[in-house]
Amino acid sequence: MIRNITFSALAAFALAGGAMAAETGHTPIVEDFAFSFEGPFGTYDQAQLQRGLQVYTEVCASCHGLKYVTYRALGEEGGLGYSDREIRAYAGQFDIDDPETGDTRSRVPTDHFPSSQYEGAPDLSLMAKARAGFHGPYGLGINQFVKGMGGPEHIASILIGYTGEEKEEAGTTFYENTAFSTGWIAMPPPLSDGLVEYADGHPNDARQLSEDVSAFLMWTAEPKMMARKHTGFLAVVLLTLLSSLLYLTNKRIWAGVNGRKGHPAE
Ligand code: HEC
Repeated sequence: MIRNITFSALAAFALAGGAMAAETGHTPIVEDFAFSFEGPFGTYDQAQLQRGLQVYTEVCASCHGLKYVTYRALGEEGGLGYSDREIRAYAGQFDIDDPETGDTRSRVPTDHFPSSQYEGAPDLSLMAKARAGFHGPYGLGINQFVKGMGGPEHIASILIGYTGEEKEEAGTTFYENTAFSTGWIAMPPPLSDGLVEYADGHPNDARQLSEDVSAFLMWTAEPKMMARKHTGFLAVVLLTLLSSLLYLTNKRIWAGVNGRKGHPAE
């Protein structure tokens, strides 16, 4: 019965995926990137998150907001790990119309990042989670399951997925993009080799920039990923211990009635 239900569910998914591909005539191609935070023991690479913030600030922020992220979160451990002074200096570069006084002032660590500035550009705070699955054959999310591919791969693939083709439709320019769901995206190619200069001279070709900003966006969507993994690991260890104890207890309790096994007729 359960098997039947599973099969019908899979079949339904497969059909839906197929139908989606047929509708747009395009199957998005998402590349597998090796991010440091993949796997049960993966952690964020602090230097990479800091580079990603720089790419976001210099390039993406002119269009995309991060309205669910506060500046003070940039100090969290396991994340970017900036000091209070650094955060205050970073936040202070941006102005906000204070809703209480009505005046314009510099932002402070307890403020949020700005919202999107460009029509049609979605907020990126949670994008890496929103686009987490449904890639791979028939949109089943198999690649996520097998290779750990998810939202950050989706974002990085879009950023480097431009073919260079453009078309105009109803006054909007669309750019051909192999990773975007419909194959044509309204976002002009935002990154190019060397567009952002890193202070430490770290490589900055378009691929590296896209990987860094995608890792940063994974962090904005899931800043507590490390804590979650630790808790998960501890839970697995405790459950294993509990199972072994239960097994041993069970054996002991039934030790006296073992002999009659296999002779029900006696
Ligand atoms: C010129 C403005 C502009 C800039 C700069 C820009 N974007 Fe976009 N972005 C857009 C628009 C507009 C869309 C919506 C595209 C659509 O739906 O066709 C979009 C969509 C997206 C999406 C959503 C894709 C999806 O699956 O729906 C992501 C992710 C994204 N941008 C990331 C970035 C990142 C990261 C940067 C910086 C490296 C960036 N963008 C820079 C305008 C911009």
